[in-house]
Amino acid sequence: MATEQRPFHLVVFGASGFTGQFVTEEVAREQVARDRSSPLPWAVAGRSREKLQRVLEKAALKLGRPTLPSEVGVIICDITNPASLDEMAKQATVVLNCVGPYRFYGEPVVKACVENGTSCIDICGEPEFLELMYLKYHEKAAEKGVYIIGSSGFDSIPADLGVIYTRNQMNGTLTAVESFLTVHSGPEGLCIHDGTWKSAIYGFGARSNLRKLRSASNLKPVPLIGTKLKKRWPVSYCRELNTYSIPFLGSDMSVVKRTQSYLYEVLEESPVQYAAYITVGGITSVIKLMFAGLFFLFFVRFGIGRHLLIKFPWLFSFGYFSKQGPTQKQMDGSSFTLTFFGQGYKQGLSTDKLKPNIRICTQVKGPEAGYVTTPIAMVQAAMTLLNDVSDLPKAGGVFTPGAAFSKTKLIDRLGQHGIEFSVISSSEV
Ligand SMILES: NC(=O)c1ccc[n+]([C@@H]2O[C@H](COP(=O)([O-])OP(=O)(O)OC[C@H]3O[C@@H](n4cnc5c(N)ncnc54)[C@H](OP(=O)(O)O)[C@@H]3O)[C@@H](O)[C@H]2O)c1
Repeated sequence: MATEQRPFHLVVFGASGFTGQFVTEEVAREQVARDRSSPLPWAVAGRSREKLQRVLEKAALKLGRPTLPSEVGVIICDITNPASLDEMAKQATVVLNCVGPYRFYGEPVVKACVENGTSCIDICGEPEFLELMYLKYHEKAAEKGVYIIGSSGFDSIPADLGVIYTRNQMNGTLTAVESFLTVHSGPEGLCIHDGTWKSAIYGFGARSNLRKLRSASNLKPVPLIGTKLKKRWPVSYCRELNTYSIPFLGSDMSVVKRTQSYLYEVLEESPVQYAAYITVGGITSVIKLMFAGLFFLFFVRFGIGRHLLIKFPWLFSFGYFSKQGPTQKQMDGSSFTLTFFGQGYKQGLSTDKLKPNIRICTQVKGPEAGYVTTPIAMVQAAMTLLNDVSDLPKAGGVFTPGAAFSKTKLIDRLGQHGIEFSVISSSEV
């Protein structure tokens, strides 16, 4: 990547947003990392100079670095002004795009980056946008030699890299994995900013578009290796974790499947089947969640329903989403554990007819998901893009995190920043 010719190695676009402010802080930390051997020139970008200045001043105060605002470039650009996006892209090696919902705002940024030879990382959790960008821009990005990497936040780096980690740790061929997300909260409870709420509402409201996109794209399915992974019921009991679980409706399934397809098609690696669940505790929580879920799915179907959901996030999400986002105390008190149960076949054994004969359990643990883990994951993905160049896919393109980073040191970098991957157990059966 052409870091030398561009004034900024990283540009945080949407730095004034709720998530953008924490990504800005994380880049500021990275800029002065102890192991840094070369400077990291960077800038913030957005449509309001005042808001960007305020974000830099807040970060300066929080990090105890009064000179920070004068060390960081400021670029004014607006999604509705393509020339301003081109100007931003020309000044950056990698754009960290925090402007969502991506279904409305994402494509002009991808287009500007591809046309101006700039790599781009986003934290999108919307499968329709991610899959559409692959279909529309993969070849153009490859021609330009740039990397467009979606879903590089909590959605879906822990899941995508977690499956790759599990495969790498297994002494044999991993053929199937189920993951169970557990979100832990402190005494102040949990909260998510309404930026993510809006993305979810519009995403669920347009589920039929995703089905149409998938049938039109006609991508080749990957072969089934080993015993078929059984789909669980909408509510199932996970004995190992002693809790009920439901399917996880984030982007993890879409992302991991596309990564596995890339690893099989391009690198000829054995593909892994995958299913994602979230733990919900006891039966009372299951009943509450079922009501909330049915209510949500009913409202997102209609324009007026979506309007109400967006106007009153706190009310309709039972306090889990708000326009103010989580408080610092709520963020400090929460964390996540993603547990993977994998099955496969001992080295040298055929995966054809036998039942799987090795099991492995791994975990990814990290701090609060949305605004601590996401900025760390996004910034470490960017550092990997800048530093592990020889380990990236040879040509550019539109990639999932697993496809782009499976051969890099991203998992080690995440570990150094508090997102830890570990093996819990591994046994023959
Ligand atoms: N992957 C994950 O786990 C994860 C975690 C957190 C968030 N996210 C995603 O990140 C996205 C942002 O969420 P958020 O809560 O930070 O939302 P937010 O606070 O509403 O931030 C939106 C940002 O977009 C900017 N923006 C809006 N319209 C624009 C335009 N026309 N031109 C330039 N900038 C524009 C806003 O700028 P102004 O300040 O000027 O209005 C703001 O900076 C969402 O899609 C969310 O789902 C993903």
